Amino acid sequence: MINVEEIRKDFPILQRRIRGRRLVYFDNAATTQKPIQVINAIVEYYSKHNANVHRGLHTLSQEASEMYEEAHEVIAKFINAYSWDEVIFCFNTTDAMNIVAYAWGFKNLREGDEIVLTVMDHHSTMLPWRNVAKFKKAVIKYVDITDDGYLNYEDLAQKITEKTKVVVFPIMSNVVGTINDAKKIVKLAHEVDAIVVADGAQSVPHMPTDVRDMGIDFLGFSGHKMLGPTGTGVLWGRRDRLEEMMPFKVGGDTIKDVTLEDVIWHDLPWRFEAGTPNIAGGIGLAEAAKYLMRIGMDNVRQHEKELVEYTFKRFEELGEDITIYGPRNPEDRGGVISFNIKDLHHHTVGRALDLFGIAVRTGMHCAHPLHYRLGIKGTVRASYYIYNTREEIDYLIEALKQIIMLREALKHQPVEEVCTGT
Ligand SMILES: Cc1ncc(COP(=O)(O)O)c(C=O)c1O
Repeated sequence: MINVEEIRKDFPILQRRIRGRRLVYFDNAATTQKPIQVINAIVEYYSKHNANVHRGLHTLSQEASEMYEEAHEVIAKFINAYSWDEVIFCFNTTDAMNIVAYAWGFKNLREGDEIVLTVMDHHSTMLPWRNVAKFKKAVIKYVDITDDGYLNYEDLAQKITEKTKVVVFPIMSNVVGTINDAKKIVKLAHEVDAIVVADGAQSVPHMPTDVRDMGIDFLGFSGHKMLGPTGTGVLWGRRDRLEEMMPFKVGGDTIKDVTLEDVIWHDLPWRFEAGTPNIAGGIGLAEAAKYLMRIGMDNVRQHEKELVEYTFKRFEELGEDITIYGPRNPEDRGGVISFNIKDLHHHTVGRALDLFGIAVRTGMHCAHPLHYRLGIKGTVRASYYIYNTREEIDYLIEALKQIIMLREALKHQPVEEVCTGT
């Protein structure tokens, strides 16, 4: 079990008041808050060690290089990678997914090859492959979902053919919360020698991740969604697959030697980390991973499962006034709960919740095709993390009850279509 009260003390921002009320932060799927340990690690780095990495023989540069490399080791341990040099630091999941699509896809795809995506993909995993497919004249296929938000595995089995070269899927959906069966997907994909690219943006921060056990080929995730700084992300790849990629973003630090005619690329992972990296960010991300490992990822998952179970129980009090999307069994889903309140626009509900100090995300959550498949224009999304409590969920329910009571007045509020195209 985790001690939420102790954990909360580590997060200075949780002391903030919003419109005179205590902040209830339920927007963790978008980004998480940062513990003081991560903030301090960054301050310490800039205060005592700041220098560029891999470029200087002086003491500060050596220290910065060592700290930055050690950060790769911590992340390798966090996801049970075979080795630290399979871990490429980048800027976020979007960046990780673009690197694989361009660096692997451009080199290895041929005309007529098939790429299997899913209807529940986030834009950041879907769009890079669509772009690359256009250049390479490859064919995109989409795996459907069931009406209750599960991946349709029968459809997946049909969509994968001898021509399939790539299968992409989210380990956990950022909208319906579904946790997909990675091993099942890997088995089907590897039978036809396709690579499996897993989007771990929502899963890695919230449950144990073992890249060896899953058997996937690539994994992308965002540091800022797991207590780390913004502008940090990770691409992990199996060594043989990384060796199949062409360096895509190239320049400083990606090479061992350059002549006017030729290039000798650097070893892994530097070949894929072009230019001066986010050194302080990488160090902060490692601190975040250490923090989570101290808590234990099994405990993180258990805590969120309990919060989901409790939310569903309390949502029953709202009866017909609430529609919830995605699987109902907490075993099959993460702590991301998307819903709508009858006759109210999702943005209206989001703005009203903000008046209570409750931060949620509203809109299409960068997954427009999934919303079109569900036949909805958006949802309100509450997403949990280690510092969230049952009391906060009680407060959410009370706020929603008040919003429902005021429905007639709120219904006529103008809704400006704030940008949902992100
Ligand atoms: C499932 C999923 N994939 C990818 C991303 C993209 O993450 P980032 O914006 O950090 O690149 C997100 C972000 O919300 C996500 O939820």
